[in-house]
Amino acid sequence: METVVSGIRPTGNLHLGNYFGAVKSFLQMQNEYNCYFFIADWHSLTTHPKPADIVKSARTILAEYLACGIDPEKATIYIQSDVKEVLELYLYLNMNAYLGELERTTSFKDKARKQPDNVNAGLLTYPTLMAADILMHKAVKVPVGKDQEQNMEMARKFARRFNTMYGTEIFPEPASFSLSDKAVKVPGLDGSGKMGKSEGNCIYLMDDAETVRKKVMKAVTDAGPTTPNSEKPEVIQNLFTFLDIVSTKDTYDYFNEKYNDCSIRYGDLKKQLAADVVAFTEPIRERILEFSSDTQLLDKIAKTGAEKSSESAAKTLKEVRQIIGFREI
Ligand code: ADP
Ligand code: TRP
Repeated sequence: METVVSGIRPTGNLHLGNYFGAVKSFLQMQNEYNCYFFIADWHSLTTHPKPADIVKSARTILAEYLACGIDPEKATIYIQSDVKEVLELYLYLNMNAYLGELERTTSFKDKARKQPDNVNAGLLTYPTLMAADILMHKAVKVPVGKDQEQNMEMARKFARRFNTMYGTEIFPEPASFSLSDKAVKVPGLDGSGKMGKSEGNCIYLMDDAETVRKKVMKAVTDAGPTTPNSEKPEVIQNLFTFLDIVSTKDTYDYFNEKYNDCSIRYGDLKKQLAADVVAFTEPIRERILEFSSDTQLLDKIAKTGAEKSSESAAKTLKEVRQIIGFREI
């Protein structure tokens, strides 16, 4: 069976971008592949979280994974820092990762701009740690949103480079996976391109109905179309993209027609959108609350996941050490 790996950093609650960009694919893939879904707590250290928050944040994402329907009986769910083998692979990959290419990645340049006082080496080598996460299980498919494409290209490059350097085929080249033929990008409702934690424009799975309604009703719009069948400006397109993601096709078509004949009232669209988002998030929110209160269960699931993940990782590392030329330990 083919192997799948993906992770999310525990830097806040899961939002609709995370769900539709990544978690929704996890739910489908767990039925068809050998899946490893993890919580990338080492990656989150690039922004120096408080020690008191580390365990709590990982448990939060774990509860949210489970509430979304990721099933520990089907997929291996683990916390990155519980499986130390990845660090060894990270070191080997770093020996063949070049400063120039790491400095050129857009995510590094973005982060360096956003946190100029903390341009640390972990930030620079973020793509090698991500590649190690993936290659450690020899994954062939990686469900991620569009924003991760460059990191995925790097992972493929590092896999190829290692194979070529040592004349092996140990690492398959991992492909990004998306449920639709185009990678999903959930827009922000504040007029910005993307919903994201650092953009501060998220609707969280944990938001209560009132909060969701407020956020949706505040969505940026314009004065409305004046000529029939006109092209939608970006802020309006964003609303329609949202409808496309959470509402039925009938709802989408209804408002699309209204837009095309210039009779649309954005207030009505937003009300419908808010109701559809709430219908989606409410049951998940309830399950998150249930799972969050059972820390014993969460820790048990993480422990079992760590064991399964370590087993797979140790196998790969054994081969890697042999290929590089180390003696067996
Ligand atoms: P954030 O951008 O909020 O910090 P992360 O970087 O932790 O979120 O993303 C975790 C996963 O969710 C990644 O696979 C990423 O591609 C996906 N993701 C995040 N935001 C979006 C979005 N707006 N649309 C689609 N996918 C997204
Ligand atoms: N870079 C991803 C993000 O920011 C998180 C991540 C870390 C990841 N390691 C991974 C995703 C391995 C897929 C596979 O969201």
